[in-house]
Amino acid sequence: MTAAQEPALRALADLLAAMPDPAAAGQSMALERELAATLGVRHAIAVSSGTAALHTALVAAGVGPGDEVLVPAVSVVMSVAPIVYAGARPVFVDCTDSGDIDLRDLAAKCGPRTRAVLPVYLWGRGGDPAAVTAFARQRGLRVVEDACQAHATLSGGKPLGTFGDLGCFSLKDGKILWSGEGGYILTGDDELAATCRAYRSHWTTPPPGQPPLARLGNNYRLAEPLAVIACANLARFGDLARQRHAQATRMLAAVAAAPGLTEVVARAGEAWNGYSPLWRVNLPDPRGFCRRLADCGVPNSVGSFGLVSCDQRPMFAPFSPAPCRTAAHVVDTTLGVVLTAHDDDARISRLAQIIAEEARRWTRDPD
Ligand SMILES: Cc1ncc(COP(=O)(O)O)c(C=O)c1O
Repeated sequence: MTAAQEPALRALADLLAAMPDPAAAGQSMALERELAATLGVRHAIAVSSGTAALHTALVAAGVGPGDEVLVPAVSVVMSVAPIVYAGARPVFVDCTDSGDIDLRDLAAKCGPRTRAVLPVYLWGRGGDPAAVTAFARQRGLRVVEDACQAHATLSGGKPLGTFGDLGCFSLKDGKILWSGEGGYILTGDDELAATCRAYRSHWTTPPPGQPPLARLGNNYRLAEPLAVIACANLARFGDLARQRHAQATRMLAAVAAAPGLTEVVARAGEAWNGYSPLWRVNLPDPRGFCRRLADCGVPNSVGSFGLVSCDQRPMFAPFSPAPCRTAAHVVDTTLGVVLTAHDDDARISRLAQIIAEEARRWTRDPD
């Protein structure tokens, strides 16, 4: 228990004393107000997870059966599943060699059924969100941003998750802003916000002018105790973001001389959050190397979580007519180390040492 956690503990004790209260929503509403003020947006809508945020946002954006949604193949299952939940078809878009969404492939895959673009800011990297949004605006498409890993990344001075119509975030532990589980949606549009609020709670709180329960919704409400934790962490958001950036910077510097690993630097104009230190792996069997690091206690996207280009996932096979080859190569050759707020300087140095030693060993003798 640290001093920084004390406000959360006090607020939780107060809340617990008032529970059970089936109508309680005060903590979630307070979180929404604070998020909107902190991030400079008109509306924040608290929900139960990043997945719930994406599903709710897609429904609010009018995505439904018969629609197609353009989504990068460099993404995670949780980015794509909500498109399928909404009854739409994900269309996977390839990336450039740098891992950013390939704007030419985006244009090539845009068709008469395309309703929305869902950029995914994996590892906190945004690519060129202004260009993606401009593309969508020209075509009359909605933009739902998956900014679940992108708290605090700025592109051209603007936070990721505020470029499109709706920005979706996760509050899962491990994210820079966390509350155990949870999520939120940002939007500047009153109507979209009202639809999100209605969908989040079985349409019991409908948009103005509509009767309650007129449409199907969901229970995607954020639990009040989790809203308390999120609020307390939001009050120290700057510190949490600075900590993650410092962790990533320390690890990247400590691994800089390792053979076969090249830092993937952020694009010009991006103030990256440091979500996950990233290297391109120029070693034989790069996926094997990432698995080896996971076995040695270095958590990473490919080795620990089996990250692959999403179009290769069996559950999305019906939506993947042609493989996204650059995305497959980029994912296969990316080492992204998974950090949490518990990783102190000593652990960061130890993990960096393991990475460097294993890279040297792998260069001599990959097994
Ligand atoms: C990029 C991305 N999208 C979506 C999600 C889904 O968020 P949650 O786990 O809160 O449902 C996550 C979190 O794991 C994520 O990292």
